[in-house]
Amino acid sequence: MPKKHILIMGASRGIGKALVHHLAQQSDVHIIALARNEAKMKVDFADLANVSVHAIDLNLKQVRTTLTDILEAYPSVDYYINNAGLLVNKPFLELTEEDIAQAYQVNTLSSFASIQAVLPKMIEQGGHIVNISSMGGFQGSMKFAGLSAYSTSKAALVSLTELLAEEYKETNVKINCLCLGAVQTEMLEEAFPGYQAPLSAAKMAEYIADFTLHQHQWINGKVIPVSLSTP
Ligand SMILES: NC(=O)c1ccc[n+]([C@@H]2O[C@H](COP(=O)([O-])OP(=O)(O)OC[C@H]3O[C@@H](n4cnc5c(N)ncnc54)[C@H](OP(=O)(O)O)[C@@H]3O)[C@@H](O)[C@H]2O)c1
Repeated sequence: MPKKHILIMGASRGIGKALVHHLAQQSDVHIIALARNEAKMKVDFADLANVSVHAIDLNLKQVRTTLTDILEAYPSVDYYINNAGLLVNKPFLELTEEDIAQAYQVNTLSSFASIQAVLPKMIEQGGHIVNISSMGGFQGSMKFAGLSAYSTSKAALVSLTELLAEEYKETNVKINCLCLGAVQTEMLEEAFPGYQAPLSAAKMAEYIADFTLHQHQWINGKVIPVSLSTP
């Protein structure tokens, strides 16, 4: 049986790093781990024979071509966990154009580009794309001051999920979106110092990994809140 290839964007720390460690325990998968900090991933995943690491900067314009070039080395992409994210926490009137553009570039625009690179590798054999959004981008959830750039850019990812599931419904590609509540990671600690989330990155990774590998047999185009903390 050929190995299934799992692409994880944003794998150098937090939930993405925990996902690599969790999924690499399966011998029948090969993990393609991406982030800017390639050196750190090389050290952190040095003992994992079924993990390859590549550098990519989602801030740059040529995400689609860069990722397409990286993926040429792999026969397929069976699962894509679109997990990278940038949290901007600033009062609305203090947001600069650059803050807003960066949040949208990393959380939204690069998602268009990376999915455009992944889909051609996935369409023939089928697969599952899992977009990692936030409870802040989930309609009707509690909202937090300072997160307008971040949460609206994550809400766009929710909508993109629903639209792509419709556009590709005749294929074997399924696309779903998980809206996460608070998870104890570097991102959370930097944005809200001292706040204690009810879930660790490793615990959240368990759920995301199981969802990615199995749930697309039953659901497509769905947006699912995954939260112990946020109403
Ligand atoms: N933690 C939470 O409470 C929480 C709640 C809701 C949703 N989420 C979402 O869950 C996902 C993971 O969050 P996390 O808490 O694990 O975040 P994190 O600790 O900040 O990790 C983010 C990952 O994204 C990568 N990344 C950021 N900017 C990038 C860029 N320009 N190019 C390439 N990679 C980039 C980072 O790698 P490099 O810096 O090496 O590039 C890192 O690996 C994010 O989408 C986040 O929005 C998290």
